[in-house]
Amino acid sequence: MMPHPAGPGTQAIHAGDPAPRPNAPVVNPIVTSTTFYMDAEGRGDLLYTRYGNGPNHQVLEARLAALDGGDDALAVGSGMAAMACALLSLLQAGDHVVATDAIYGGTRALLSTELSRLGIQTTYVDLFSPEWTEALRPETRVVLGESVSNPILRVLDVATVARAAQAHGAALVIDSTFTSPLNFRPLEHGADLVMHSATKYLGGHSDVTAGVLVGSAARIGEARKRARVWGPVLDPHAAWLLERGIKTLSVRMERHNRNGAEIARWAQERLEIARVIHPSLPSHTDHETAARILDGFGAMLGIELRGGGPAATRFVRALQLAKLAPSLGGVETLVSEPRHTSHAAMTPAERAANGIPDGFVRISLGIEDAADLIADFDQALRAADAGETEREAAD
Ligand SMILES: Cc1ncc(COP(=O)(O)O)c(C=O)c1O
Repeated sequence: MMPHPAGPGTQAIHAGDPAPRPNAPVVNPIVTSTTFYMDAEGRGDLLYTRYGNGPNHQVLEARLAALDGGDDALAVGSGMAAMACALLSLLQAGDHVVATDAIYGGTRALLSTELSRLGIQTTYVDLFSPEWTEALRPETRVVLGESVSNPILRVLDVATVARAAQAHGAALVIDSTFTSPLNFRPLEHGADLVMHSATKYLGGHSDVTAGVLVGSAARIGEARKRARVWGPVLDPHAAWLLERGIKTLSVRMERHNRNGAEIARWAQERLEIARVIHPSLPSHTDHETAARILDGFGAMLGIELRGGGPAATRFVRALQLAKLAPSLGGVETLVSEPRHTSHAAMTPAERAANGIPDGFVRISLGIEDAADLIADFDQALRAADAGETEREAAD
């Protein structure tokens, strides 16, 4: 039996597990059957795997609900599928969405190119400015934010936004992919639905694609109805891998958080770096909010190299332990330049106005030893600087 209330480390390992029986396996087996026997009246809890309620889904969803403090959870085949189910369950033709302008590009495409075709309009706002409420319309049904934004790591005061959304009768949906439920639980701050790309920290090993929604039984019930029909089911193998990954979420996040704070402090001292962005630093715009509402500052880090785009290119090429790749939240350290990835569609001036000038490198710190990561960043900064000196000499 799990103690009540159990801590997140305990929940990550045990919540939702079936009661132990002699000879039953300690590890939940993967059940690949696409269908299940029913009684003569056609009843049964488990019927058909596309409904997303196989044994692996059931354990996983109970665990996710416990971790985020919701009644129920829905696990589907990707973060985008989770967001789509959330929005389709809350909106219909003629409705309006107010969304943060710092939103993940895939979510922006879902709103602007897909939901718009269904007669649902979106207004993008700066959710950090109190004037955002001016965008609310009588037909606004959803306010959509991210608890920590990409890549400049703004930390949203979810409770303040939730109060305004609630006063207007709109549901607040929070994408909390960057925090995981270990660092932040938006439902405790008044959000109606929390969404995670479980492809990131929840899975944690860059080997499973999945998405999650957590909320009240009624809201998850509505999202589940959409998932049954639109069909974005999570494969049982992936559900099992995700459940396995979540077991170590608490220890991984402890190390991620430690690496984040230590490497941010180190980077601040480097002359080659003009700006370090990490919510643990007092210089971060939202440091006070972060310190008040987060349980950990996370392992996403932004650095802006003094030498601009060319220095950033030399830096990422010189890295040996950290690797150049999109995505985040895995045990391995990955770096990317937003100007080539998430923000490639913007002009350099637009990016600079959004706090992402050329020279900006996004780092998803893994759980390697901080000393090894620092040694790698150190040699890459030196290599980037030496390249600059060579270029100046050649000029
Ligand atoms: C903040 C955020 N939300 C949603 C997604 C989409 O998740 P997935 O790739 O699992 O569909 C991503 C993916 O990078 C993300 O970073």
